[in-house]
Amino acid sequence: MDKKIIFSGAQPTGYPQLGNYLGAFKNWSNLQEEYNCLYCVVDLHAITVRQVPADLRKASRNLLALYIACGLDPEKNIVYMQSHYSGHAELAWILNCFTYMGELGRMTQFKDKSAKNEANINSGLFTYPVLMAADILLFGTHLVPVGEDQRQHLELARDVAIRFNNIYGDVFTVPEAYIAKSGAKIMSLTHPEQKMSKSDDDNSQINLMDSPEVVMRKFKRAVTDSDTEIRYDKEKKPGISNLLEIYANSCGISLDSAIAHFDGKNYGQLKTEVGEAVVENVMQPIQTSFADISANKDYLDGIMKKNAEKAAYIGEKILKKVKKKVGFVV
Ligand code: TYM
Repeated sequence: MDKKIIFSGAQPTGYPQLGNYLGAFKNWSNLQEEYNCLYCVVDLHAITVRQVPADLRKASRNLLALYIACGLDPEKNIVYMQSHYSGHAELAWILNCFTYMGELGRMTQFKDKSAKNEANINSGLFTYPVLMAADILLFGTHLVPVGEDQRQHLELARDVAIRFNNIYGDVFTVPEAYIAKSGAKIMSLTHPEQKMSKSDDDNSQINLMDSPEVVMRKFKRAVTDSDTEIRYDKEKKPGISNLLEIYANSCGISLDSAIAHFDGKNYGQLKTEVGEAVVENVMQPIQTSFADISANKDYLDGIMKKNAEKAAYIGEKILKKVKKKVGFVV
């Protein structure tokens, strides 16, 4: 009863990449015993960028199946589609009225995404972080396990919660970000000074559905430096540091152990061993389990439905309180 609440989510835009797994999904499954957890497929967020409807539907089902394939037990965690519970959108509207344009204009993700989508800088892209705040605040969330790139959005969710509470009393729990020390920012394989991202060039990222051959090829081509020493130095050796971090997190060992393991070895050996660790410890188990789960449509439909109802049951209590506070007739 008194377990703390965790909420997180990911966008169903194609298959996730290795950074999503190491920075987020992998940690989620470690939290399921200690916390009450909700993990959402954030399809409402996905349409801030134009989507092909059939592809979005497919990607959403696949992502839910992948959550389970990555180790989330759907009986212990509430895994569901964001659009299956309208409370997210309702609370987002209310919170829009408590968020300033200036705050949203400062969001780096908005600046990046609008630079990439000049033809479609819609208001949903601008208010995206408000919907994310609604996702989190709707359930009295204490902790939000995410990668480093979501830290600024989390800060905004906290500011909005505090602002609302200052006006109406203690309605919202003020959430904390839960960001792992290692693996929270996996970098691109071709531009290791940038984060790995689904929307970038295919060779820069490991897609969770890539075949072993493709994974090995992408790691072999990973950009390193003209030096020969395997050393962890994010500033001067971003490519090598990224490979070391991927190895440590894929093997479930500390960064220091990974560094010690490669002492005296060369870049070629590093790339091969990182590729093998990712294939054996990450890709193969996930892909095998994903194939089983996604083949069973009725099973997935049942989980989706049952869990959206569970989410709504929790969310409605807070939403009702919010509506009453702002003066709606309830
Ligand atoms: P999204 O879909 O971009 O990413 C899902 C999760 O993966 C993490 N991540 C990474 N971690 C390490 N290295 C990387 N290169 C990397 N790339 C992505 C992200 O930090 C994230 O944790 N806005 C969110 C989805 C969202 C959400 C929420 C998250 C909507 N509502 C409420 C938490 C709580 C997003 O676009 O994540």
